[in-house]
Amino acid sequence: MSKYKIEDPGLNESGKDRVDWARANMPILAALKQRLSEEQPFKGKQIGICLHVEAKSGVWLETLIAGGAEIVITGSPGTTQDDTAAYLVKALGVGVFAWRSENFAEHMQNAKCVLDTQPDIIADNGGDLHYLLGEDESYRQLRKSIIGATEETTTGANRLREELPPFAFPTIIINDTLAKRIVENRYGVGISVVDGIMRTTNIMLGGKSVVVIGYGYCGQGVAQRLRGLGAHVTVVDTSPLAQLEAHLEGFRTSKLEDALPNADIVVTVTGRAYAIQKQHFELMKDGVILCNAGQNQTEMDLNYLRDNAETEHELRPNIEELTLTDGKKVFLLARGNLINLAGGDGNPIEVMDLGLALQTLSLECIALGKKKLINEPQNVPYEIEQATLKAALNAWVK
Ligand SMILES: NC(=O)c1ccc[n+]([C@@H]2O[C@H](COP(=O)([O-])OP(=O)(O)OC[C@H]3O[C@@H](n4cnc5c(N)ncnc54)[C@H](O)[C@@H]3O)[C@@H](O)[C@H]2O)c1
Repeated sequence: MSKYKIEDPGLNESGKDRVDWARANMPILAALKQRLSEEQPFKGKQIGICLHVEAKSGVWLETLIAGGAEIVITGSPGTTQDDTAAYLVKALGVGVFAWRSENFAEHMQNAKCVLDTQPDIIADNGGDLHYLLGEDESYRQLRKSIIGATEETTTGANRLREELPPFAFPTIIINDTLAKRIVENRYGVGISVVDGIMRTTNIMLGGKSVVVIGYGYCGQGVAQRLRGLGAHVTVVDTSPLAQLEAHLEGFRTSKLEDALPNADIVVTVTGRAYAIQKQHFELMKDGVILCNAGQNQTEMDLNYLRDNAETEHELRPNIEELTLTDGKKVFLLARGNLINLAGGDGNPIEVMDLGLALQTLSLECIALGKKKLINEPQNVPYEIEQATLKAALNAWVK
């Protein structure tokens, strides 16, 4: 069995049940698993992964393992299902470095543990593995031996294209596909964020004033689902096109400063750091609920918020009451981690069946080296996206 660091290996039985349920609803991966088990495209390959350690990912790992892969994985702060982690370790022999209560520093240490196993291929989320490869000199040799990578999400794509150095291997950006942006980001995230808020708070959304900051693919879904439940949604976005789209879709659009004083709930989903800063907290009303669905922990300046909190008290799981120096109370959900995963089960299973099929076929493309890929961030090959969409149509449209 591989090395691992998880909360409690004894939780594996309930983890097995969770993965069994997810598997029963993932026909696209089931078909891929059958083919990959015959063809063994990953035989002899170690895949180092950074992705939420939860049941749908568990089914994905079963698929990769059936195709011959050895797997080591870390997750994200606040999103790990500890029982799923135990199942992956005990039943599948996966090297898991993740636990639900880990903070960001522990998460990055866990990401190092993944790289320390010297994977041949990496599957990244948010660019954390790429960041370590680029910044940490101890991974100089590994930069040369990795044959390719995938990156799951918008934040990682932004980092790879704007901040990180070039790498000597190709990185396929799953998020570049319209398949992922529309099916997962718009429909999946929209539903699951609302589900996460409701499960966490048990409050009614109808009649609430909600400010959605960021009207990209995820924000569109979040705004639409909130409106569907009767919330009065105001959209804030720095892009004129996004503002226009929101306006034409019938949402109120506004500058952040004008929207905040009236907000009962604020949702950040920009993929950028510090969308909410010191001056914005000052504008919020007493009792405002803050949550994030975009970039982990960083979309709000939580250091400022905590530094200016006289008291911090957890009222119920994932709801912290912070009383600021001026007496105002702010309720922070899930410590600024992704509310849909920290407060719920993340995106619906079917949605991730499609998204993780894109991942699987992209990793197979890298492992087999049959297609000429360039050594830079790039879109998922057209034929992979089309094959995945057709598989989803076959599975979903009866
Ligand atoms: N919670 C999840 O399960 C989940 C799933 C997929 C993606 N994501 C994350 O959600 C975030 C958004 O992804 P997306 O695909 O919607 O991105 P996107 O690029 O399509 O949209 C982001 C939007 O935010 C706007 N924006 C950027 N900075 C802003 C600021 N300071 N104030 C207001 N608006 C701002 C941009 O103009 C853009 O319209 C990313 O961090 C992504 O990684 C989360």
